[in-house]
Amino acid sequence: MKHYVGLMSGTSRDGIDAVLAAIGDDRDLRVVAHHHRPYPAELAHDLARAVEDRTLSVQTAGALDARVGEQFARAASELMQREGLSAADIRGIGSHGQTLHHAPRGEPPFSWQIGDPFRIAERTGVDTVAMFRQRDIAAGGEGAPLACAFHAARFARPGHDRAVVNIGGISNVTRLEPQGEVAGHDCGPGNTLLDHWVRQHRGQPYDAGGGWARTGRRDPELLAALLEDPYFRRPPPKSTGPEHFSPRWLAERGGTMLTNRDAADVQATLVELTARAIADELARPGTPPEDVLICGGGARNDFLLKRLAAALPETRVRLTDDEGIPAEQVEGVAFAWLAFRTLNQRPGNLPAVTGARGARILGCVIPGSGGND
Ligand SMILES: Nc1ncnc2c1ncn2[C@@H]1O[C@H](COP(=O)(O)OP(=O)(O)O)[C@@H](O)[C@H]1O
Ligand SMILES: [Mg+2]
Repeated sequence: MKHYVGLMSGTSRDGIDAVLAAIGDDRDLRVVAHHHRPYPAELAHDLARAVEDRTLSVQTAGALDARVGEQFARAASELMQREGLSAADIRGIGSHGQTLHHAPRGEPPFSWQIGDPFRIAERTGVDTVAMFRQRDIAAGGEGAPLACAFHAARFARPGHDRAVVNIGGISNVTRLEPQGEVAGHDCGPGNTLLDHWVRQHRGQPYDAGGGWARTGRRDPELLAALLEDPYFRRPPPKSTGPEHFSPRWLAERGGTMLTNRDAADVQATLVELTARAIADELARPGTPPEDVLICGGGARNDFLLKRLAAALPETRVRLTDDEGIPAEQVEGVAFAWLAFRTLNQRPGNLPAVTGARGARILGCVIPGSGGND
């Protein structure tokens, strides 16, 4: 067993999850420790502006890359320090970085993650793997979702029809078929619209437990208008981001319904949208799986889970906690596992999921011991 660190910050931009895992082989993996480093308020604010700003300057983008890189390096160093580990104890770090813009269907397609990995390698002294999505995109894929291969390695059970659902800013499903086939794609909004609405109306970063949404009533007319987005009907492979499911998207789709409804009713409707988007993808192509494992911060939204369970009456809905990995750590572990794959010359993407021409060894490796000092 060797130690790997995964560093992940998703589209919620809440902060960095640093996870230490001991990995022996593909399926032989144990989570050792987890450290969450929230973004400093000013950086979170600047990132939120940058993601929405279509005319971002190179100066701002470059500075953000450096600032986020320092935060990622600190998240890793703090975790190592806390566990009493030095660079020699860790085989590699896998850093997802922070997505600035994801445009897999752009002309030309690209996906851009910031968080300067050279700073991570320099500050920690550990071999650092980064820029995971780019190779898949170069090979004609969506570059996402990438956690599916890990979900399959860790959570698939032969003979069982299962799915893993990650509810981050965006939600994605990994379907684990009884015969071993794996499918996966992004469903649509996870927490991103929920966070936006509660921030705007209640000044809170998220609706804890879905408590506020629970006080509202779902609005079928608003829900139908939001579900009209063709993304929900598009066949896979597909991936999306907060560039698409943005506050602007909500304003355009919801129109005057957003202002002449009670704000809590809108929140309840957005919960329903997230639950429906996930349940509809799980019902594609035929019947939903027997068993669903939920991960991501959305797993802590009890009301959302309740609505998801209601939308999937034949399915057992549980958290990945039940199978040994706490919900908020799964995506971080996935990047530790992806670093393990790359450093062992093994591919990390699933062409059936991303649509790439073939399996590829992902990312680039920055040696940790680069200097003479
Ligand atoms: N107790 C909670 N109740 C409701 N939502 C929560 C709770 N804890 C976390 N979340 C949600 O989870 C999000 C973070 O999830 P995460 O998996 O880190 O997403 P991402 O991968 O996009 O960063 C928060 O923005 C929030 O919406
Ligand atoms: Mg997060």
